[in-house]
Amino acid sequence: MKVDLNGKVALVTGAARGIGKAIADTLADNGAKVGYTDILAEGAQQAAAAKPGCAGRRLDVTSQDDIEAGVRWMRETFGGIDILINNAGVNTMKHRVTLEQFPQEEWDWIVNTDLTGCYRVTKAVVPALFERGGGRIVNIASVFGLVPARLQCAFVAAKAGVVNLTKAMAMEFAERGVLVNAIAPGSIPIEGPQGLFTGKDPIMKARMDAMLSHIPLHRFGTCKDIANAALFLVAPENDYVTGSIMTVDGGWTAGYSRDF
Ligand SMILES: NC(=O)c1ccc[n+]([C@@H]2O[C@H](COP(=O)([O-])OP(=O)(O)OC[C@H]3O[C@@H](n4cnc5c(N)ncnc54)[C@H](O)[C@@H]3O)[C@@H](O)[C@H]2O)c1
Repeated sequence: MKVDLNGKVALVTGAARGIGKAIADTLADNGAKVGYTDILAEGAQQAAAAKPGCAGRRLDVTSQDDIEAGVRWMRETFGGIDILINNAGVNTMKHRVTLEQFPQEEWDWIVNTDLTGCYRVTKAVVPALFERGGGRIVNIASVFGLVPARLQCAFVAAKAGVVNLTKAMAMEFAERGVLVNAIAPGSIPIEGPQGLFTGKDPIMKARMDAMLSHIPLHRFGTCKDIANAALFLVAPENDYVTGSIMTVDGGWTAGYSRDF
């Protein structure tokens, strides 16, 4: 898929690796100047270095100082912002436990990053979009924000918050020319210490096999699947889709995918 994003500037959070990096790379490959940001400064800079005209820096979405400095840096480096991708997100593998055992610190970390981070970054960035006469925001939610899983109370609550926040933002920003949508990824195997899929562990393998049996397309998703959806949502051709939650999940949320 090819889209003309020449002249557009995009800020992507959590862009050092995984889905965020794939989205940032795809926007850059389609002509956008991209600010790759992440809590991992070096990772963000390394990812950006591969794309001409792009740049990277640290931006922790739970730090107000980082967010404000990041927006100033975007203005100084690129002259403004047209596209915001709220991708940074975390979950816990360590505490897959019921709510009464779920540690408060894990709750705070996940909700502060996944939901409050989306609110804070958007609040800081949206004046820059208004200055350009409009723009696009894509929030990375999760299918678990639509259909919750057991033993992940903080993540499912945070992502459900992102889903409704997306719709509220779409209504509030429409008259200023800013279209706001979310992508709800299904199961996307990724690398990294916060990876949801650790590969060789037999318990994880059993869980992954069970998950696969519920996916009508019978495969897990890729970061590129999510990046392509994001590309459509930020494309100039998309001038009417706002407030939508695009599931990119191989059909997992379409219904009960078993014979009945
Ligand atoms: N992989 C999946 O199956 C899946 C499914 C549904 C939703 N998602 C969502 O997709 C998004 C990307 O996740 P991923 O799978 O690529 O995971 P990932 O762990 O590979 O990438 C997340 C990135 O966010 C960064 N990050 C973490 N905390 C941050 C903070 N406070 N500030 C800025 N950056 C921070 C990490 O350093 C990392 O580079 C997340 O919002 C996640 O919840 C992923």
